[in-house]
Amino acid sequence: MNLRLSLPLILVLIIVPQSIQGSGLKTFLNTLSPKSPYSFVFPLSGNVFPLGYYSVSLQIGNPPKDFTFDVDTGSDLTWVQCDAPCSGCTVRTELQYKPKSNTVPCSDPICSALHWPKKPECQNPKDQCDYEIEYADQGSSIGALVVDQFSLKLLDGSSFVPRLAFGCGYDQHFLSAHPPPATVGVLGLGKGKISILTQLVSAGLTRNVLGHCLSSKGGGFLFFGDNVIPSTGVSWTTLVSPGFDSRWERLFTMLGFPTKSNHYTTGPAELLYNGKPTGLSGLKLIFDSGSTYTYFNSKTYQAIVNLIGNDLKGKPLKDVKEDKTLAICWKGATPLKSVLEAKNLFKTLTINFKNGRTNSQLQIPPESYLIVSKTGNVCLGILNGSEVGLHDSNVIGDISMQGTMVIYDNEKQQLGWVSADCDKLPK
Ligand SMILES: *[C@@H]1O[C@H](CO)[C@@H](O)[C@H](O)[C@H]1NC(C)=O
Repeated sequence: MNLRLSLPLILVLIIVPQSIQGSGLKTFLNTLSPKSPYSFVFPLSGNVFPLGYYSVSLQIGNPPKDFTFDVDTGSDLTWVQCDAPCSGCTVRTELQYKPKSNTVPCSDPICSALHWPKKPECQNPKDQCDYEIEYADQGSSIGALVVDQFSLKLLDGSSFVPRLAFGCGYDQHFLSAHPPPATVGVLGLGKGKISILTQLVSAGLTRNVLGHCLSSKGGGFLFFGDNVIPSTGVSWTTLVSPGFDSRWERLFTMLGFPTKSNHYTTGPAELLYNGKPTGLSGLKLIFDSGSTYTYFNSKTYQAIVNLIGNDLKGKPLKDVKEDKTLAICWKGATPLKSVLEAKNLFKTLTINFKNGRTNSQLQIPPESYLIVSKTGNVCLGILNGSEVGLHDSNVIGDISMQGTMVIYDNEKQQLGWVSADCDKLPK
């Protein structure tokens, strides 16, 4: 069960001044306008269940070699399991990235971007730039920044080969099957300067906008840039600074402690069930493609479980404790093949964002919060966030973003969504 949300207090990859750009990227700056019209589209593989993640294949190096990444909007750093050699790697040596004297020196601005607001710890400016990242599911990766060429295809089929900095991870610790078995690293798409998108934007290659469309049938697509966003029908809400209601956090920030994270946080929002108010409001929601399921804080979670439980009274679904797929599963008269067979017994959840005088609503229909287990039971894909250490924030995971184009617009600081056919790659 992925919850690939980086922990803000442990590793810190935050806002750095506009003037800082990765070395090796500047050649592009002169040739392209700052408001670049380019968009990149990448096909995705994977699903919510049974795999639990969506992944993208990227080509790195010369000659280019394929690497499959877990797509994660909950963290910033892109890293790949690396034959440096490696301890704790989950893939065979042949599938790992081989560094070839291409580590980023500690004195490079991109290293400061990685470590900001702390300073990189290095004895010698020529030392390699080390990183360490921890995730909410207790996995971690240690390694060094390297720079190499990425082969990126544009919508029109032409391609670019920018040199980008990413992590070469040679010391991994993962409790469960993380990173997911078929992936060799994490594509960090958070807002931090170290993210691949931020580097592409600094190089003038694309707009600071990304999005994904996760298909409920599996697969879908990821995009950088704003060309594929429909001109009508998109609902928007403001992206907020995570500490917007916390005076302590502001104080810590003033004192220079690293507290801000680069998560895509929205809210405050209220929760509706079957179109009616639940009394639950003031919710902060992080949109995180690195999380398989959706997490609510204990109080909200309990309320949702009660509402659903009450609705199921007298219906042909009974609690089944033997099914350990997720915390709560129900058994029907006969085993189910698809969520669609049970969706009529459940109601839609709605997240209502108040944006000044207007509202925007994100609908979470039953098929976006339920899965069918291997034994044909239906299980609740909404989990207790307090159990995984999320006390204040809630996380909208892959399950609730299926069949929807989700847009993270870092230029206008807003998050958008529109229902979409994620099986069709945009042209
Ligand atoms: C959620 O998890 C917390 C922490 O483990 C626990 O104290 C609480 O009772 C749980 N809430 C529900 C509704 O299960």
